[in-house]
Amino acid sequence: MNDELKKFIENIPKAELHLHIEGSFEPELMFEIAKRNNQQIKYNSVEEVREAYNFSNLQDFLDIYYAGAGVLLYEQDFYDLTWAYLEKAKANKVLHAEIMFDPQTHLDRGVEFNTVFNGIYNALKDAEEKFGMTTKIIFSFLRHLSEEAGFEIYEYLLDNKDKIDAIGLDSSEIGNPPSKFERIYKRAKADGFFLTAHAGEEGPAEYVWEALDILHVDRIDHGNHSLDDEKLVERLVKEQIALTVCPLSNLKLRVVKDIKQHPLKTMLDKGLFVTVNSDDPAYFGGYVNDNYLSVAEALDLSKEDIYKLAKNSFLASNISEELKEKYVSLVDEFYRANS
Ligand code: ADE
Ligand code: ZN
Repeated sequence: MNDELKKFIENIPKAELHLHIEGSFEPELMFEIAKRNNQQIKYNSVEEVREAYNFSNLQDFLDIYYAGAGVLLYEQDFYDLTWAYLEKAKANKVLHAEIMFDPQTHLDRGVEFNTVFNGIYNALKDAEEKFGMTTKIIFSFLRHLSEEAGFEIYEYLLDNKDKIDAIGLDSSEIGNPPSKFERIYKRAKADGFFLTAHAGEEGPAEYVWEALDILHVDRIDHGNHSLDDEKLVERLVKEQIALTVCPLSNLKLRVVKDIKQHPLKTMLDKGLFVTVNSDDPAYFGGYVNDNYLSVAEALDLSKEDIYKLAKNSFLASNISEELKEKYVSLVDEFYRANS
């Protein structure tokens, strides 16, 4: 890739909409926190941890991801984890970030909700103040657990309605269709939350239909398998439902065999409302700019494609129309000055 395009990608203002904070846990920080908390990890070195990050599918990754989160015990741990991501985001010219967290991952091992939430929230507020970033929090339900288990933690969501804007659905997709969470999404919609759900990452196009028709989501996480169904593509284009696509995640979890076969360019060409994101950057080999760079190189994306993706990232976000306009004008300005 030429240097000019590389700089263009690295510096264009962007939003990140699909980021699991537990997935930004770098091995170096994992060792540091494990040590101060007197926790054991099953690896002897940072290098050994990185070597273990060789996944054959989503479940393979999730097993390691949940184990990694096991050393997080105190509010300061969650603060440090979130702060480390926010520093990376700032360096990647992320002006707005919507961050997912998985309360059940922590509650189920005895860590209190407020310990997790306060750590994350305070780091986000500090980034707003120090970096001028804007942020949102997505409270994600683990789909391998029951809907009842989701309702058991719903009170935490309501208690923090002034601080949490959206819900999500993540973890093991196949065998856990969106329809399993129909009642909880109905409730969250009635309570005024913005609705997102992972669908069509490993699961079939049918799961994307369910996310639209049964959960009534505002945005789809991943959505790759939508391309298997022309009628679904037509619907997504017509309604301009955003997909938060994560190229390096798709490569590492073998949703695509080769980054050159990644469908992002096809998605753009079909008129799908796509954005580029990092998903779990510590596990998949890169933050948001690395994701842009990898597809730009592999799919020969132009400056216009990058400009469109950056603009989409703000347009697909859960912020006011006014703020969207402000951010889009910054992207426009950058494009004009650099083309
Ligand atoms: N949790 C963290 N990353 C995930 C992914 N890519 N898919 C489903 N659940 C996840
Ligand atoms: Zn994800």
